[in-house]
Amino acid sequence: MQQFLMKGGIPLHGEVTIGGAKNAALGILAAAIMTDEPVTLENLPDVSDINVMLRAIEDIGGEVERLNRHTVTIVASSIHTDKVLYDYIRGIRASYYLIGALIGKRRRAEVALPGGCAIGARPIDQHTKGFVALGVKQEVTEYGSYKVEADDLHGANIFFDVVSVGATINVMLAAVLAPGRTVMYSAAKEPHVVDVANLLNRMGARILGAGTDKIIIRGVEKLHGCTYPIVPDQIEAGTFMMAAAATRGDIVLKNVIPRHLEVISQKLRETGCKVENYDDAVRVIGAENLKYTNVKTSPYPGFPTDMQPQIAVVLTMAKGNSIITESIFENRFAYVEQLKAMGADINVNDKGDEAYITGVDQLRGCKVQAPDLRAGAALVIAGLSADGYTFVDDIKYILRGYEDFEVKLQKLGAQIVRTESDKDVEAFMELTRNKTLSFDLDLKRRMNQ
Ligand code: EPZ
Repeated sequence: MQQFLMKGGIPLHGEVTIGGAKNAALGILAAAIMTDEPVTLENLPDVSDINVMLRAIEDIGGEVERLNRHTVTIVASSIHTDKVLYDYIRGIRASYYLIGALIGKRRRAEVALPGGCAIGARPIDQHTKGFVALGVKQEVTEYGSYKVEADDLHGANIFFDVVSVGATINVMLAAVLAPGRTVMYSAAKEPHVVDVANLLNRMGARILGAGTDKIIIRGVEKLHGCTYPIVPDQIEAGTFMMAAAATRGDIVLKNVIPRHLEVISQKLRETGCKVENYDDAVRVIGAENLKYTNVKTSPYPGFPTDMQPQIAVVLTMAKGNSIITESIFENRFAYVEQLKAMGADINVNDKGDEAYITGVDQLRGCKVQAPDLRAGAALVIAGLSADGYTFVDDIKYILRGYEDFEVKLQKLGAQIVRTESDKDVEAFMELTRNKTLSFDLDLKRRMNQ
């Protein structure tokens, strides 16, 4: 199994370029199949979730041409089915966006349903509520797929009971080709929701109000092809901002939209870090002595739940007592036991929705496991700030959402490698003990022997 192995205690310095937003790209890939004309997507992150979605589009007959690592052209005219039943698709929750897209495109869909996941049950009742309001007839088949028929697709007023990124995107996909007017109330406002709406409008849809809690859609006959750059990833950026704070480093993040990061920047300023905004860059200078603060996750523009594990790591080293309240998912503190093993003073309440942290001087390296994508990234940040060596296991979760994570960190001075064998481990250990060796040059030579 692949692991990240690192030696901590080195402040990260330098520049990192942030990639396209995974959570925008997943909705946008589904939207791209809603026209028979070519759709070219730029700044697409090369991560496993995206590559699985591309494979699903090919499996139902779509053509996917990769122009370069971050640019693909999709031509959906050859899609020959509305059934997406492949087992591998269950692992990618956002594959359910193909339901909304196929409702719009073919008035039919049957998609393997995702289960829950490590962070919560993650029901889709708001998605189905929206589809039914649009006139969709639905059933769950005996083998657990979700089957819909939408011959009578029409606009509707939809009042979400919960602010849901997925439901907002999925229902928007189904509504853009639904005759008539649709209004979605209590819609999600995340930057990645807005990016999907922008792409759809670039394809000829008529969506107003994306980014507010009321989205108005006028159905159109058809959508056309276009070229579209994916928005920079707010959460990848936030993750590197937290790495700067946790290692007391100084990092410039390039290719970001500072406005999307404002709530994260503000929270870091509360801990004593300096954050400077530029046109398409943000600089984070970690505080020598981090100060405690409190965090409550909430839908955008609130503090993102996807940044909760990462800021918890920063707060484990902040003098004083911090409280983190997780208000979106019911089980997003699974990483706490791993941080305790690293010497953090952190405890979760019985209800499982609050973590209480008392700052310690420094964490200590040890072997930990990534329970999910964002907690995995947070444990890497913990290892980079800790004294000694840290192994992070199960990095497949991290690879779902972070492109070249260890390479980007190495370029910031981190002594981290992706290991596959004990030989790699020995080479790494010797390198980091031998002060005379230049880590990155010798590392590549020795690790590739
Ligand atoms: C998206 O998940 C993201 N995933 C998640 O990021 C992110 O944590 C989440 O939004 C919140 O921002 C993608 O975009 C692929 P929700 P999603 O629907 O759409 C409840 C990552 O790390 N709910 O906004 O599934 C739900 O249980 C991932 O990249 C219902 O009750 O999240 C949760 O409590 C992890 N019924 C809350 O709403 C529904 O029908 C918010 O979930 C839908 C959701």
